[in-house]
Amino acid sequence: MSTLAEIPLERRAVRRNDIEAVYRVYRQSPGYFELIGAPIPEPADVVRELEAALQDPRRRIELIYAGPTPVGYLDYKLDHPRNGEAVISLVLVAEPYRGRGIGQAVVSALESELRERVARLYAVVYGDNAQATKFFTTLGYRYFKDGGPAIKWYVKDLRPLPANRPI
Ligand SMILES: CC(C)(COP(=O)(O)OP(=O)(O)OC[C@H]1O[C@@H](n2cnc3c(N)ncnc32)[C@H](O)[C@@H]1OP(=O)(O)O)[C@@H](O)C(=O)NCCC(=O)NCCS
Repeated sequence: MSTLAEIPLERRAVRRNDIEAVYRVYRQSPGYFELIGAPIPEPADVVRELEAALQDPRRRIELIYAGPTPVGYLDYKLDHPRNGEAVISLVLVAEPYRGRGIGQAVVSALESELRERVARLYAVVYGDNAQATKFFTTLGYRYFKDGGPAIKWYVKDLRPLPANRPI
């Protein structure tokens, strides 16, 4: 198995000609879609998702590359739910590439990038996803709230909060 040090990781914004690469990452992640009770998205679904994301200037969807290979997907939104906050909707590492530190490296890099402009970073976890819970708590996130019967929000303060800020 490769170690993290051997894998140069890069995140690139998803463009219209990346549909096949996103679909490839999804196809290599069947367990996640089974866990959330959804079919693996088809290329047409990926196109719809991308078009929706491109309409929203706060939304960022990115492919994670290890060298030339797309190994994951990251979907987050800036200034949401409030200005100066951000939400990770999905960090997905395709199954063949898990357990090598890619997920942790990607989220840590995102935190460093956002720290200047984002005080609080949330992560939304769908379903009964013990692996995701462990992943985010290991990275310093704490349970924040239930966002519905099958949705849990986690949060990490990237910067100390002002003493008078509402929770
Ligand atoms: C959650 C998820 C993104 C984690 O990705 P990952 O790349 O496998 O995560 P990491 O490798 O960074 O960390 C996972 C484990 O690998 C371990 N690991 C880190 N570096 C390692 C290395 N070089 N070699 C072996 N294992 C390593 C970590 O310590 C961690 O172990 P732990 O489970 O005992 O804590 C991935 O499981 C996934 O895509 N799940 C489906 C989607 C999902 O649920 N996303 C979260 C909700 S949005």
